[in-house]
Amino acid sequence: MGGAVRGPPCLDRVKPVNIVLIGFMGAGKSICGRVLARRSGRCFVETDDMIVARDGRSIPEIFGRDGEERFRQLEGEVLEDLRLKRGNVIATGGGLPCREGRMEALKSLGTVVWLDGDFRELHDRAIRAGDRPMLTGRSPADVEALYRQRTAFYRQAHLTIDTTGLGIDEVVGRVLRALRDLDPRGAGR
Ligand code: S3P
Repeated sequence: MGGAVRGPPCLDRVKPVNIVLIGFMGAGKSICGRVLARRSGRCFVETDDMIVARDGRSIPEIFGRDGEERFRQLEGEVLEDLRLKRGNVIATGGGLPCREGRMEALKSLGTVVWLDGDFRELHDRAIRAGDRPMLTGRSPADVEALYRQRTAFYRQAHLTIDTTGLGIDEVVGRVLRALRDLDPRGAGR
């Protein structure tokens, strides 16, 4: 007899509550999100990938041709699509939470974790990663002002992890511990 049909490991135990990572460019939401998903047996999704899949163009192309406002609209559309996700790790673009009502919408999807850190470290990492239209033509002081402005939204997260000086595994370990402390029977299991 054939064995039981098994789906992908991330569907074996469906965990209803999503883990939503937010934070400024360079915070490590994508890389930590991938590792976090692997370590917690969840699927990983990224809002920037959803936007590219929906629109068919790269993010720099969307910004370049249609401007930031169009990109923010697309973020709003994928935020709607996220309501169908269950038990995923969701990495959001750095600007997605920073509009009226968006933090509330993210918090309705699951546990929201702000990956924060020393601004200079975030900025250096974002610069090294390249391809960030929000950095184009902005001085470090302008980018810092943007970061400070955005913290008003980010700080509404359920949890904040200071990533300063930490490697990926350490960040993921701290996220998992913080999730367990928040709810021993919940998202960090
Ligand atoms: C943006 C951050 C980017 C991407 C887009 C806009 C922002 O994502 O969504 O370039 O406004 O901060 P990361 O936070 O993954 O760099």
